[in-house]
Amino acid sequence: MFDPEKLTRENIRRLKPYRSARDEFKGEASVWLDANESPYESGLNRYPDPMQRALKKKIAAIKNVEPQNIFLGNGSDEAIDLLLRAFCVPGRESVMIFPPTYGMYTVSAAINDVAVIESPLDDNFHIDTESLLPRLKDKRLKMLFICSPNNPTGNLIPEGQIITLAQSFHGLVVVDEAYIDFADTQGMLGRLEEIPNMVVLQTFSKAWGMAGIRLGMAFAHSGVINILNRIKPPYNVNGLTQKAALSKLDRLSGRAREIRELIRERHNLRRELHKLPCVVNVFPSDANFLLVRVTDAERIYRELARQGVVVRNRSSMVPGCLRISVGTARENEQLLNALRNLQ
Ligand SMILES: Cc1ncc(COP(=O)(O)O)c(C=O)c1O
Repeated sequence: MFDPEKLTRENIRRLKPYRSARDEFKGEASVWLDANESPYESGLNRYPDPMQRALKKKIAAIKNVEPQNIFLGNGSDEAIDLLLRAFCVPGRESVMIFPPTYGMYTVSAAINDVAVIESPLDDNFHIDTESLLPRLKDKRLKMLFICSPNNPTGNLIPEGQIITLAQSFHGLVVVDEAYIDFADTQGMLGRLEEIPNMVVLQTFSKAWGMAGIRLGMAFAHSGVINILNRIKPPYNVNGLTQKAALSKLDRLSGRAREIRELIRERHNLRRELHKLPCVVNVFPSDANFLLVRVTDAERIYRELARQGVVVRNRSSMVPGCLRISVGTARENEQLLNALRNLQ
């Protein structure tokens, strides 16, 4: 039986969480004198719902999960940090990552003094599960961070592989699906009940087009969610963010069109990039960016910036590679023209 309490740090298990005024009284009232707020109505003078109930209800309906399986944070970066803080003893326990991958796993682990074990992806950006399985027996290894589709390589990690890893591991398997809406798959959410030690991260920053509001989602076993809720700052998702997300969730059709367009643009951009002499390879992508191997990454990065086009130089992670976000048709054309203009 999976018991998240057993994985939790001793001090967190014993923690008596802070209870905010809005945690103490949840009903309807006409006079609110419990939180030392300003009484002058502005639409923002009250603290927001610390548990974001209205927002979770809508997300639950869209994602086909229960509200008790949802944690909301100040970006998924907050969920990454809280997971490390809740489950990994600083200076003693470790997490595993599969580089090249999203940089915040390492940074957040370092901030929390949690060791990072690297298990590099192979030349096709796949995880070598077989050789990995014996290493998962280490009791001090508490979490695996699997990014799918992976940033910066763009590929999905096969579902079967994630399941095998989760079933062979005593700790938590965190599957970061920041880019899942651009992939031709449902992702791992439907498997949540079947795989109790899995945490799925998603975000409003990519396909929802709302990076500015900072809203990330973690989906997991209710025991894991309860632990995150206990240690989060009381009002970690502010009122403006909750309002903006609620109104975005009422306008789903625009989002579907944008995703379709970006996927079409991704195909077009890949095809056109392949034609350029400075491009060595464009890796297949299930995300809203392309990893592109070029003849001279440093020089091309600088040349593009000089022409006002900013991409990400990822050559320190994947030799010779730039990561290019898919923009509008016009932006992509500007990028292509800038590459055609290279001296
Ligand atoms: C794989 C991955 N996870 C998480 C994030 C951060 O998401 P958020 O904006 O929700 O903090 C990013 C942002 O680039 C990302 O690439």
